[in-house]
Amino acid sequence: MNTNVKSELLKRMSAGKDNPVSGQQIADEYGVSRTAVWKYVKELESEGYEIGTIRKRGYYLISSPDTVAPSAIQQFLQTENYGRSMRHVETCPSTQILAHEEAQNGAPNGTVIIADEQTAGKGRLSRPWSSAAGKGIWMSVITRPELTPQQAPQMTLVAAVAIVRAIEELTEVTPAIKWPNDILVNGRKLTGILTELQADPDRVKAIILGIGMNVNQQLEDFPEEIRAIATSLCIEEGQPLSRPKLAAKVLDYLELYVALYVKKGFAPIKILWESYADSIGKRVRISTLQDTYEATAKGISEDGRLEVVLDDGSIRGIYSADIHI
Ligand code: BTN
Repeated sequence: MNTNVKSELLKRMSAGKDNPVSGQQIADEYGVSRTAVWKYVKELESEGYEIGTIRKRGYYLISSPDTVAPSAIQQFLQTENYGRSMRHVETCPSTQILAHEEAQNGAPNGTVIIADEQTAGKGRLSRPWSSAAGKGIWMSVITRPELTPQQAPQMTLVAAVAIVRAIEELTEVTPAIKWPNDILVNGRKLTGILTELQADPDRVKAIILGIGMNVNQQLEDFPEEIRAIATSLCIEEGQPLSRPKLAAKVLDYLELYVALYVKKGFAPIKILWESYADSIGKRVRISTLQDTYEATAKGISEDGRLEVVLDDGSIRGIYSADIHI
């Protein structure tokens, strides 16, 4: 299956009934037969797209299914690498597991594993991640940036900035970043990021960015125990959102900001991140495995630690903790 032709067909058919797409033109441009184009149209129909035909002029899109299949996402993509290689599964325990396998087998930079449903989605600190079928974006992005293993944790912050930029561009909601990996709206969790590493002692082989975004859930779609702390874009906006459009926008910004981080270092990401952070300048309660204490959040350091000012005036950099405002 050539997802390039399919996603290009989709993109052009979206121009509507007044601008139908000529099958012959696509066939000529992509060096495939007219019958092959017709087969792609039939494939799209079997995936749930409603396609109209105007005799002697071509095809146009009437309606789209709610799917995160590669061609649905790729029609909106503006990246060079991210999302160009994509594996979509209906259901799996966790896209992180599949992504680790694919990365070990040499999957190229920017490969995406995306699922409609995860049955054992995992969050940070081995917590479960609720991943209801067809309601969110459950994806793992295999990145291969030129970074040292010490620079890898900052990729969580790079991803957070990319995600808030995408949300801002496509919705009216105002997202905030909660260190290190949560994106909140009105104080409730909308998105989580799980960063995992494959590395030699001095070289990153792959950084796998697991991104879980609550998109079209209603409150009752969440397990009871997280209903008071979770939200979705649909709940916040009062209307459903296109998952493929959002996934593509996240990948666009992710590619952009990872490239910025690799080229210019963490400084520009730090400025962006701090502008979205919900805790800077505020009193926070910090819970680590060892203890719980209060301090004032100051900012993030060059290596991605949260810097807090303790009551005796000393500054502490935190690598891993739960933060409560
Ligand atoms: C967290 O907030 O603790 C991180 C949640 C990360 C969830 C995503 S969903 C896609 C990928 N697959 C997983 O099993 N987890 C990540």
